[in-house]
Order: sequence, then C-alpha cells, then structure tokens
Amino acid sequence: MSRQPGKAQSEGRAPTHVAANLALDARVARMAREGSDILHLGFGEARLPFHQHLADRLAQGASRTSYGPVAGDARARDAAAAYFRRRGVPSESGQILFGPGSKALLWALLQVVPGDVVLPRPSWLTYRSQAVLSGKRVVWADVPPGLGGLPDPAELSRRLRDARSAGADPRVLVLTLPDNPTGVVAGREETERVCRIAEEEDLLVVSDEIYRDVMAVDPAAQASPAEFCPERVLVTTGPSKSLGLGGWRIGLARFPDGPLGSDLFHRVEAVASEVWSTTAGPQLEAAEYALSEPPEIVSYRARAARLHRTVTEAVYRIVRRTGADAPRPDGAFYVYPDFEAYRDELALHGVVDSPSLEAHLLEHHETAVLGGHHFGDDPRLLRFRASTSLLCGTTEQRRRHAFDSDEPLLIPHVSSALARVEDVFTKLTT
Ligand SMILES: Cc1ncc(COP(=O)(O)O)c(C=O)c1O
Repeated sequence: MSRQPGKAQSEGRAPTHVAANLALDARVARMAREGSDILHLGFGEARLPFHQHLADRLAQGASRTSYGPVAGDARARDAAAAYFRRRGVPSESGQILFGPGSKALLWALLQVVPGDVVLPRPSWLTYRSQAVLSGKRVVWADVPPGLGGLPDPAELSRRLRDARSAGADPRVLVLTLPDNPTGVVAGREETERVCRIAEEEDLLVVSDEIYRDVMAVDPAAQASPAEFCPERVLVTTGPSKSLGLGGWRIGLARFPDGPLGSDLFHRVEAVASEVWSTTAGPQLEAAEYALSEPPEIVSYRARAARLHRTVTEAVYRIVRRTGADAPRPDGAFYVYPDFEAYRDELALHGVVDSPSLEAHLLEHHETAVLGGHHFGDDPRLLRFRASTSLLCGTTEQRRRHAFDSDEPLLIPHVSSALARVEDVFTKLTT
C-alpha cells in the first residue's frame, strides 16, 4: 500500500490527552497490578540498573540547594562541550544549555523559532505533538524505504516546495540519529545530503541524538549533522537512554555556531528562565560526571549498549522469521515491523490498519505496542514500534542479571520473553 503524499497539515489545537507512549505505559502498569501478564513492547525506556557512582554524585549534589544559572553551571557546561568535541563537533561551553530533559528543551526551542516544522515520517511522536502545541504546522517528509531518522533526500526539496505552495512556512527540520521508532542509524552520506538541502532551503536543523551512545555498531560511522553545517544545527541529547536515567530529567542542547546560534541560545535561555529557572543542582552534578565519560561510565554504557543490541537483534530476527518486514535497526532499542505481507490474514481478525493492530495485540495477545500512526505513518499501514529494552526483565533483580550477563539470550526470563514475542508475532501471520 502506498503512503499519502506529505502534505502540510494544520493540526490546529493543543493535545488534550496524556502522550500516547506515557499513557500506554501507565495502562500497562495498571493492567499488571490487576493481574494481567502483559508483554510490554510499548515504552521507550532503557530501564536498566543505574550506575552507583551516578547515584553517589547525585547525592553529593544535594547540598546544591540554590537555583544556579539558567543554562547550567560552568563545570557541567564545560563537560558537555568536551563531550561534543570528542564526537568531532567543535563546541564551547557558551553553546551549551541544560534543561529538565531534552524534551523540555525541544519544546522551548519551538517557542522561539518562527515557521513550521518538517518531520521525517515516521518519527518520534512528541515532535508532532510539540509542533501542534506551539501553533506550528507539520510538513511530513517520508524516510527512504527501509531506513529511518532522515527524510529521503531525493524527496525533501519537492516536499518543501509542495508545502510552501500549500501555504506552510517550513523553517525547522528535525532529524533523529539513531532513530526512534525504527532504530536505524542514518548513514554519513545521506546525513550530509540532507544537511546540504537544509542549507539551500535555509532550514534550522534539530538533531536529536539522545540515542547516540546506545547500541551503535560502529560509533565512528555515526555522523552528527553538526559536523556538516555547524552554524545551523542544534543538537539535543542527554543521559536518559544511554545511562538509563530517564526519570532523573537531565537534558542538554548544543546550540549552533555563529550569530544564529547565539541569538537562538539567548531566546531559549529566556524561555527557560520563565519556565524552569534552572536545572536541578544534583542533576547537574551527576551530568557533569557522566559527560566527562570516566572509564567506569564508558564501560557501563558499552555493556548496556551490548545488551540492547543483542536483544534488539533477536527481536529483529524474529520479525524476519515471521515473514514481516522491518528496517534493520543499528541503534537505540526499537524494531519497527510492517505486517503488510499478512494483510489478508489480519483482516480475518478485523485488523485493517495500525490502530486496530495495536488494539488487537493488546486485547487478544496481552502485548503492548505503539501503532505506526502515532509516529505520523499512514494509519492504513500495518506497522508498529516494538521497544525491546523492557524484555531484559520485569524486576530490578532480573534486569541486573541480564545486564551482568555475557550471554543474556541464555537467561531463562529473557529467552522466555523472546519466545513469547515469537509466538505472538507468528500468531499474527496465521
Ligand atoms: C527521540 C527521542 N528524543 C527525546 C526523548 C526524550 O528524552 P529526555 O528524557 O531527554 O526528555 C526520547 C524519549 O523517549 C526520544 O525517544
């Protein structure tokens, strides 16, 4: 089935419901409390044991009871700038702004930039919601078949032209490297091509790199758009995924070089000063330590990345064994299956699109996923996002066991969770 053309959409009003991902996670927790045994593939959280040194640093930061500077303190900003420099992106601490999660920083940015937002389709659900919340239109640009995180360079200029003739004013392009929902790590060449188009079209690029340190096959092969057009790329990141600290709410942005970047920085800082004042001192204490990448944190991260990689590859292989399609995930902890090949079989169960597929999986197979429509995909497609990180264990002790193991697929609770995934996905095809 072909997708609809990426027309500009004025979606008009602020969301009135809790975000679908958070709502699903809360629903699964409620169902579990009521006795259901849910296979939870519906939430993008690392949920791994935290590193004790991070907790120690957080505790040491408890004495930091003053508000502190809006952008974060100098030590944390220095550590962040050095973190980016180690990834080939020259950076100074004055370009760094911390916030309570990169999600809040993305929202603050959308408050100050003019124009509409160009999103790859599919892409993380929050971008669309935040664009709508900020009174912006969404211009969808399809990702190349089998890939993710970037719009198809061959299509992007045409989409922008169409959007402008439909009255939209696309000014911001959001990229996700590695990607959520597909887990794809966009290649260096395609990333550069998209950056060149962004230059020609005068777009600000937001490069969401929250998964950069999770599961990369070859970190050197990963390029940041900031390497190609540093004066128009704003990078967001944080330790939520790579260090499993989503609930600590630490995020940071690296603003572009030059006058555009410093103007944007001051405007986002102004929003931050009115909304969250500063990032919590204990959080900054832990962030400074994590961003300085001491050996114990680097090896923790590598172990976590290896675990995510092993489990995600196992789920990807299951998807392919069932005969469904999926882009090959090389980063993050997601697989994005497409059951189009089983449209007729699924129709026998009343499953005709991604909302009915999502509902069918929950109601008939006790399996929680987010349908592709949440990520901007055409709802008629039979796609969903499977988050693999929660397969590592439903209790702290089990997650620790998986984390410490060199052979996580041999651990009974991991192998039985994977067997259940295989069983459920196979049932979809029969
Ligand atoms: C692509 C992407 N960006 C950002 C975030 C949120 O990160 P943070 O915890 O820094 O707000 C998520 C979390 O799901 C994500 O998937």
